[in-house]
Amino acid sequence: MSQFRAVKGTKDIFPGDITLWKHVESVIHKVAGLYGFREIRTPVFEYTELFQRSIGISTDIVGKEMFTFRPEEKGRSITLRPEMTAGVMRAFIQSNLAAASPVHKLYYIADLFRKERPQAGRQRQFSQFGAELIGASSPEAVAEVIGMMMRVFADLEVRELELRINSLGDVDDRLRYIRALRDYLQPYAPGFDESARERLEKNPLRILDSKDPGIQAIIAGAPKLIDFLSVQAVDDFERVLHYLEKEGMSYIIDPLLVRGLDYYCHTAFEVTSPELGAQDAIGGGGRYDGLAKQLGSKAGVPAVGFAVGMERLLITMEKQGLAEHIEPENPQVYIVTQDPSLAEHAVNVCDTLRKSGIRSLMDLAGRSMKAQMREANRMRAAYALFVGESEIQSKVYGLKNLGSSEQESLSIQEVIEKLKPLHYS
Ligand code: HAM
Repeated sequence: MSQFRAVKGTKDIFPGDITLWKHVESVIHKVAGLYGFREIRTPVFEYTELFQRSIGISTDIVGKEMFTFRPEEKGRSITLRPEMTAGVMRAFIQSNLAAASPVHKLYYIADLFRKERPQAGRQRQFSQFGAELIGASSPEAVAEVIGMMMRVFADLEVRELELRINSLGDVDDRLRYIRALRDYLQPYAPGFDESARERLEKNPLRILDSKDPGIQAIIAGAPKLIDFLSVQAVDDFERVLHYLEKEGMSYIIDPLLVRGLDYYCHTAFEVTSPELGAQDAIGGGGRYDGLAKQLGSKAGVPAVGFAVGMERLLITMEKQGLAEHIEPENPQVYIVTQDPSLAEHAVNVCDTLRKSGIRSLMDLAGRSMKAQMREANRMRAAYALFVGESEIQSKVYGLKNLGSSEQESLSIQEVIEKLKPLHYS
């Protein structure tokens, strides 16, 4: 075996898996179009401060998980993007998109990088699809974003997902809550491990989603964020829930849901899948009205968005048997050449078929006819077309249906006429 292996936490995606990826991507593009979202692509790296400012320096992502480097010794520090929201908002502000229209609906399918400990469903390079609705965060906007995410799951026929939702209130609500939470937790701190103590110090909200059973028991008696929300925040949250109900989306209110990024306010949500084990979040998002100002925009810009982990979505689909019926685009014709000396003729036939839009393959390695037939079946070609001395003389070729084994003799023009409808149907 070669000494070279893919870097820990990265994966190769081979043609056999690409069929499912392309199917999922095509559903995402279709649903995004249905909801009026347009695709955006931003650079894979950004200046490090962008992520520090937006995601927050006390979060795990910024504190421990970023791939950061300095291309020039005295130059600015750069980070491989660990998420897309910050870069999309940076692009929105930089290009002054607000001048063209107050509301922008953007979506992406993008590769991201987090230096996490790799395990099932957790990689160091992974992919997300997501959407950012920038310029509005009304209950209608929030419901639309959640609705679009759930529609992708529905169109892919993914089952048993749970939508968990909470309101984080505005900055003042949250500060009051953090104070109360810290006061409640402080007496327990001597029993905490170091990471929980650090969280209590820097970012007490993050203790709420601790997986430690001891801490979970303490949290059960903690004050609830929802009791600290202003009347307006509660009203706004209820309107979001009202829309979800109207649109037939079931949800669970989860008072402990806080999300791992600092830019959220008001409605935040997460979708979990029972197929995923410890890393059960398939996607999440929420409102981030404060982010634009945080990044230097003069005007506040309301916004809401979500992102779904592609690998976790695909794992869920595979476990639910949804990957099996998705057919790859197999070749229509495999040209079986009687003898390598006829290769040039086979090239001409192949070229003629391809120019007519028929997906065609031929042997490129001088293999025997038997080996070529095996390859045609392995590639799941619909037909084999035989090219031999007599076919070249008569200009009539044997076309064998590899499903039914029926064979007919046709000119190339007749082959094209027969197979073209298959291609365009
Ligand atoms: P996030 O919760 O950090 O949110 O990531 C969203 C999803 O990305 C997760 O639910 C998970 O499925 C997937 N994911 C995260 N880390 C990994 C990993 N190491 N390996 C595999 N999958 C992973 C965000 O990134 C926000 N930007 C979402 C958002 C958009 N909020 C508003 N707009």
